[in-house]
Amino acid sequence: MSVEWLDEAACRAASSLKWSKVGTETLAAWVAEMDVALAPPIAAALHEAIDLQMVGYPPHETETDLREVIAEWHAHRLGHQIDAGRVLFTAEVISGLAFALSTVLEPGTGVVVPSPAYPPFSEAIAWAGMTEIRVPLDGVATDPAAVDRALGSGAGAVIVCNPHNPTGRVPPLEELRAIAEVVDRRGAWVFSDEVHAALTHPGHRTMPFSEAAPELAGRTITLSSASKPFNLPGLRFAWIASHDDAVHARLAARPVHDRGPGGVLGQVAARAALVDGDAWLDDLREDLVERLSMVRNALGSVIGPDSLSRPEASYLSWIDLSATRIGDDPAAHIARAGVRVAPGTDYGAEGAGHIRLNVATHEETLARVLDRMTSIL
Ligand SMILES: Cc1ncc(COP(=O)(O)O)c(C=O)c1O
Repeated sequence: MSVEWLDEAACRAASSLKWSKVGTETLAAWVAEMDVALAPPIAAALHEAIDLQMVGYPPHETETDLREVIAEWHAHRLGHQIDAGRVLFTAEVISGLAFALSTVLEPGTGVVVPSPAYPPFSEAIAWAGMTEIRVPLDGVATDPAAVDRALGSGAGAVIVCNPHNPTGRVPPLEELRAIAEVVDRRGAWVFSDEVHAALTHPGHRTMPFSEAAPELAGRTITLSSASKPFNLPGLRFAWIASHDDAVHARLAARPVHDRGPGGVLGQVAARAALVDGDAWLDDLREDLVERLSMVRNALGSVIGPDSLSRPEASYLSWIDLSATRIGDDPAAHIARAGVRVAPGTDYGAEGAGHIRLNVATHEETLARVLDRMTSIL
């Protein structure tokens, strides 16, 4: 099922955050939205839902079989066994994360965030009333010794971004095991954000944290959504999976509005994506790999191939421009050529000298983005 990429005019007409925040002279390659038309099964399901006037309150978990659909998708698509009875709906991964943190941790608990990191993790931690503790990545890998030190100094949880945003890395089993070992020894919790898991590139597979560390089932919470793989962020629907009945009971005991259960069209779209989206997703992943090769071909010879991350998942290129002489704000420099990329410092101090380039756009738009970047670099 081939993927229909939207040209610049269509993107501007759709006026999502990515394109509405740039002027007409600037190409948008920043926030993580993909410039794709809806997968046909999702579009059909949404049209049908509108025709049926499906705009009422969404059913709760116990009133629909959507939890079973979600668990079935985790099993067949991700090789991840989760229990449908321990899935809770939420509006966003980030609202679900804040909700989960505030349910199981004491107020003010330190939460370790390997850095650079997806910026809204900080918002979720603050919103939950916890304390953020940044730990620098060792190259692109999480450093278990640094996590251990932070946990030894009183932190009580770690956020694992699996696969990782912004580097696009899929943490290998050994790394997850090393994190699990220190978390277990320190009696801490893991919150595993696996929203990019279904976007691994052909030949790669995300190891779900709860599969890597079954001994931590009572202290692991997984967050996921169809929003990233199927590009549905505006529909506000995600889920929280716990791996232990007692943890689920604590989460489920809280009022449903504390987590914001999401909307009915988000449920409709997620169901269509998870049931009928496999062929589209396979084609999308091929296209993303091609887009990332375009970046490597265009920029590799200008800034050196080692300055480019080697993503194994998703559509973000993490680029180190610190060896160039373009100053200490590379995103601002590139903006002068008419391309908006995300500044590396948005992801933490470790992102200094870096930018994050979103490659998920029409190949003609990406070619223009790369031309503009090449000429200014
Ligand atoms: C790692 C990660 N988690 C969560 C999200 C956003 O999820 P949501 O919009 O459901 O909060 C993103 C979006 O880019 C992301 O990269």
